[in-house]
Amino acid sequence: MKKLGARSTTNDVLQGKDLTGRTVVITGSNCGIGFEAAQALAGAGARVIFACRNIEKGQDALSRCQVLHPQSSLSFYPLDLASAESIKQFSEKVKDEPIDTLICNAGLMATTYQETQEGLEMTVGVCHFGHFLLTQLLMPQLLRAKEQSGNDPRIVMVSSESHRMPAKLNFNKFPLNKSNRFSPLTAYGQAKLCNALFANELQRRYGDQGLTACSLHPGALITTRFGRDSGFLSLFFKLVSPLTKNPNQGAATTVYCASHDKSDELAGKYFSHCKPVRSTKEANNPETARKLWEVSEGWGKGLNDATESLLCTA
Ligand SMILES: NC(=O)c1ccc[n+]([C@@H]2O[C@H](COP(=O)([O-])OP(=O)(O)OC[C@H]3O[C@@H](n4cnc5c(N)ncnc54)[C@H](OP(=O)(O)O)[C@@H]3O)[C@@H](O)[C@H]2O)c1
Repeated sequence: MKKLGARSTTNDVLQGKDLTGRTVVITGSNCGIGFEAAQALAGAGARVIFACRNIEKGQDALSRCQVLHPQSSLSFYPLDLASAESIKQFSEKVKDEPIDTLICNAGLMATTYQETQEGLEMTVGVCHFGHFLLTQLLMPQLLRAKEQSGNDPRIVMVSSESHRMPAKLNFNKFPLNKSNRFSPLTAYGQAKLCNALFANELQRRYGDQGLTACSLHPGALITTRFGRDSGFLSLFFKLVSPLTKNPNQGAATTVYCASHDKSDELAGKYFSHCKPVRSTKEANNPETARKLWEVSEGWGKGLNDATESLLCTA
């Protein structure tokens, strides 16, 4: 196998791998890094469930993937991570699927203050709280994966090097609200720090039940549709694109974490360029991770009764 590194593609990572029998849910898979990861995993034989908020874009992504890999087994179900109702509906629709891998890839950096349907700041609401609820609702299925398909369950959180700022998760200003001074970068940094903390806490809480969780940085300034709300960011991403990874290279670390055979080499680790690297002290702070879990669980329990009864506690 080729030595993997910064410019590795998904084909390099998946060379010689057969993922037949695996069922992967990937959020935000209609474009960018998510689409590249989804099509690559489908090409290697995994059944892939596209979880995208826009029905037209989701169906189009599935069609494009089917053209690339005519033999692949694919489904699309709508999922808007800014709506608890949509997350619940998604989890109902996939409840009979033998899901063993969940890739939490969807993300955004809202450039102005916006809120999810439940009134959370949008970037943190989608990247963390939406994925937290989704994970909770899919957890019983993930934990049954071994007996259903023989595959150990795995959760891959797409974080970012942006998790390094803020250095600490200040729960007094989390999530940001209208009265805190809103900064897109602070919100995004909080969201990506949460992704790394959440992966570590999942590993601590469910590792003894066979679950493996890890987080990753896909690469910097990859030209996708990221930053689409800002003309400046979009132009900047385009200008630097000759120097950065393309979206397929950006998906390589996600695909590596989803397909690597040795779970113990992934468990609770943070990856970049297809290898483990050090995340920040705060990302590895078990107290912060525990508190984040409690805050997120409290939010989940505050939702309507139907959701509450579905939440599982560990
Ligand atoms: N690009 C980079 O340089 C970079 C660097 C570090 C980390 N990342 C991370 O990589 C991941 C993928 O980003 P990307 O670069 O591929 O960006 P992208 O092209 O903008 O893709 C983001 C995906 O997330 C989806 N999404 C946004 N809000 C959602 C919601 N409320 N519910 C469900 N899905 C939603 C988008 O759906 P729509 O198309 O419908 O909006 C899209 O499918 C993100 O988590 C990002 O933070 C990217």
